[in-house]
Amino acid sequence: MTQDPDTLVREWIELAPAWIREMREGRNAARAGLLDPAVLAACGDVEGLDVLDCGCGEGRFSRMLTARGARRVLGVDLCGPMVEAAHALRSGRDEYRVADGQDLRDIGDGTFDLAVSYLNQCDLPDIDANNREIHRVLRTGGRFVVANVHPMRAATGQWKRQEDGTKDHVILDRYFDEGERRFGMLGVRVTNFHRTLETYVRSFLRCGFLLEDLAEPTPDRDQLALYPELDDELRVPNFILFVLKKGRASCGSRS
Ligand SMILES: C[S@@+](CC[C@H](N)C(=O)[O-])C[C@H]1O[C@@H](n2cnc3c(N)ncnc32)[C@H](O)[C@@H]1O
Repeated sequence: MTQDPDTLVREWIELAPAWIREMREGRNAARAGLLDPAVLAACGDVEGLDVLDCGCGEGRFSRMLTARGARRVLGVDLCGPMVEAAHALRSGRDEYRVADGQDLRDIGDGTFDLAVSYLNQCDLPDIDANNREIHRVLRTGGRFVVANVHPMRAATGQWKRQEDGTKDHVILDRYFDEGERRFGMLGVRVTNFHRTLETYVRSFLRCGFLLEDLAEPTPDRDQLALYPELDDELRVPNFILFVLKKGRASCGSRS
């Protein structure tokens, strides 16, 4: 399994130029038309909050949080070129650092009111480490909003098609076979990690979080009118959202 951090970060460094271009110039229906509104709604009113954006990429969601009045947004990402690109567009209350979401040792306990993980946990070999670290850097009562690839899609994901290309159904297979999945994104081979829903939820609970909400976002009529290509999202879930809260019980610290 490709758990070697150097290999994983190399993939993101290779992908970064195309990714940054796509995020800034592309028409990303799944994000703009579906996930952004769902994640923003899950974050709620961020006015005056200190927010951590874990796996911030080139900073697009950090900028949205800053624009919505967050007091401070810290975006962390393992990939230097992503952090540099985010930094170049910073507006003043957002800042960016190269850091591994599984080891946030440079951030003190109880620093943030809200943490966001927007399509980042699927990239991590060790979600327990990430959940422990996020729990540690949140204040008591702080929330952790996790948007992820749905485990039903992360397992196999492709459509079974008829000969003329018509989509029959999404293949769900190897669901209990957790671990690495390699696929092509914008011309680069990247590694994701598939886990079952049970594994995700148990990790959140084990690390001390309370599960406040769970959502499988689907487009509404207006979103579909703007992004007709999202109609598949009404057939099978592509994404899942967890809203977690740091309660009073403490969680194991970094080992
Ligand atoms: C799918 S992108 C999402 C970026 C951003 N959240 C967005 O929605 O545009 C995943 C990001 O996670 C970063 N990443 C991968 N492994 C990481 C790790 N261990 N710690 C922090 N960031 C990581 C990648 O460099 C990449 O920028």
